[in-house]
Amino acid sequence: MPALVTEPLGIQHLRKEFSCGEDVLDVYLKHYATQDQKRRVAAIFVLPDDDLTVKGYYSLSSTNISSIDLPEKLLRKLPKHPHQPATLLGRLAVDRRNQKQGIGEILLLDALRRSYILSEQIGSIAVVVDALNRNVSEFYKQYGFIPLSDQSKLFMPMKTIKQLFKQL
Ligand SMILES: CC(C)(COP(=O)(O)OP(=O)(O)OC[C@H]1O[C@@H](n2cnc3c(N)ncnc32)[C@H](O)[C@@H]1OP(=O)(O)O)[C@@H](O)C(=O)NCCC(=O)NCCS
Repeated sequence: MPALVTEPLGIQHLRKEFSCGEDVLDVYLKHYATQDQKRRVAAIFVLPDDDLTVKGYYSLSSTNISSIDLPEKLLRKLPKHPHQPATLLGRLAVDRRNQKQGIGEILLLDALRRSYILSEQIGSIAVVVDALNRNVSEFYKQYGFIPLSDQSKLFMPMKTIKQLFKQL
């Protein structure tokens, strides 16, 4: 499995100018990410430029999926619990100056890889994303994410992630 390219957000990372086109994701990085990280609400990983300016970031947290939202085929192989443990890729953003250069893809693959590695330590059957809008939903679908019954969310089973990295 290739090495991870991101690092945990730290005070050295410059983010004052970060702008991805979605205010809520800019404000989060500038004002709430460090606090969330300290309180263990979310783990934030950044891709820094040589001068430590943040080119992009993502956040991971624990979550769960209601079993009734999962496809029948997958559900058959899981314990009959009302919820299944999962990893939430809560945010993913690339600074405008760096968009359309493949960095979104690099960050997404890094988040999937990291989530897979961590699932060997803390149980998680899938990575879940909450798509901000239809466009973003298309971004995730092209990598194989599947919509949950709860339509704004998509997921990718850990088994698929394992296969994905076998091919790379
Ligand atoms: C969505 C986002 C992360 C993509 O980052 P990026 O670095 O520009 O994406 P990439 O250059 O790696 O593009 C990878 C692929 O996704 C496609 N893509 C990029 N942005 C897309 C979008 N908003 N919708 C659909 N597809 C998109 C690209 O066309 C490319 O496909 P291709 O290789 O077939 O051309 C970035 O536009 C962003 O930060 N947007 C604002 C924040 C946001 O919406 N975050 C996601 C929800 S939390």
